Amino acid sequence: MNSKPVTIGLCGLGTVGSGTYKVLRDNAKVIAARAQAPLEVIHVGARRDNPACDLGDTRVSRDVLAVARDPEVAILVELIGGTTVAKELVETAIRHGKHVVTANKALIAEFGNEIFALADEHGVEVRFEAAVAGGIPIIKALREGLAGNRIEWLAGIINGTGNFILTEMRDKGREFADVLAEAQALGYAEADPTFDVEGIDAAHKLVILASIAFGIPLQFKSVYTEGITRLTTQDVVYARELGYMIKHLGIAKQNGEGVELRVHPTLIPDNLLLADVDGVKNAILVEGNAVGPTLYYGAGAGGAPTASAVVADLVDLARDLGVGQACRVPPLGFSRDNLRDLPIVPMERVVTPWYLRMEVEDKPGVLSKVASIFSDQGISIEALIQKAPAEGQTRVQLIVITNKAMQGSVDQAVTAIEALDTIAGKLTRIRVEALDG
Ligand code: HSE
Repeated sequence: MNSKPVTIGLCGLGTVGSGTYKVLRDNAKVIAARAQAPLEVIHVGARRDNPACDLGDTRVSRDVLAVARDPEVAILVELIGGTTVAKELVETAIRHGKHVVTANKALIAEFGNEIFALADEHGVEVRFEAAVAGGIPIIKALREGLAGNRIEWLAGIINGTGNFILTEMRDKGREFADVLAEAQALGYAEADPTFDVEGIDAAHKLVILASIAFGIPLQFKSVYTEGITRLTTQDVVYARELGYMIKHLGIAKQNGEGVELRVHPTLIPDNLLLADVDGVKNAILVEGNAVGPTLYYGAGAGGAPTASAVVADLVDLARDLGVGQACRVPPLGFSRDNLRDLPIVPMERVVTPWYLRMEVEDKPGVLSKVASIFSDQGISIEALIQKAPAEGQTRVQLIVITNKAMQGSVDQAVTAIEALDTIAGKLTRIRVEALDG
């Protein structure tokens, strides 16, 4: 054990920043034993105090860049979020020769390629375990635990706020806006909660996971992203009748043509463990060609769980500093100068089964017309239910689960069905994933 502390500059004192400060203080003994040196926060950067966080006599600067320039700081922890000040802060720290730990998924997903290049140039490390799935050590699992595998695909519930909203709506029939407000009050939601409910936060995380799993550059703009705001309780109920649960998933898959990168509501069989992941919990299912399916589960948001991941990175870095073994494992799972140029598969070519719900006139011939459109597109039907019309209504809900079909064919079938004069409005369409290989 080295008695000389590893010095930390901590920027941001919100939910995760104050959580990190507390974990470092409360677990100081065990952390020092694992890091082989005490970890000491010597300089905090925060625009305002957090009354819930007692910093004692730790030096505080209102200008966070002062922390990045502090010659006494060895590791800068960036927990302010966003991609403006945070980017400048991280780049300044790197230019001043400091290692960086961040929980900032937007920063890594959108600017990671250039940040890692800058870090290489300056011989420092950038760690980001807390950027994906809160406290679940999924980056470590992919980089280290599964290093012997070719990763075939991964699928995860990677936004705690969205999963919390879906769970509360399903179980308690609560209103969307009401549950979102609670998620904000609990510190789960992003500063701009549309990032949570429109799938942007999940897309940030998916891009990071895919980069590590497949050794490809970070490419946030290539992710197909669909949120949960248009999901209705009706679809949740029908899906359950058909043996499925609706979850908001991030999916990355190598399919022979390239890589699928997509975030969208998805029907999954209700007997999967993933279907039981409720509330703010996250879970990621990873299929490795040697190990088979593996599942990682835990708290995906919140101060202490995210702090747990930040501190894990700090311990890793401190050990590396102590034994002089920086880069014990490749920072992105693959060597940065050896990233693969795999194409991203366009959504029209992605193949999945589909849940399609339509409102049709309750009269002879309607079903056969719909069925013949599916048949023209080579789409076969796996299951179908029709609901009796409500009292005094002439229209019924028709719900179809298709077998696997290419999205382009489904697009054409949907357009043709919507053009029938016996169909009211637009079809509701949600992808289905069996997640069985
Ligand atoms: N807003 C994010 C979530 C926080 O709800 O998952 C953790 O990244």
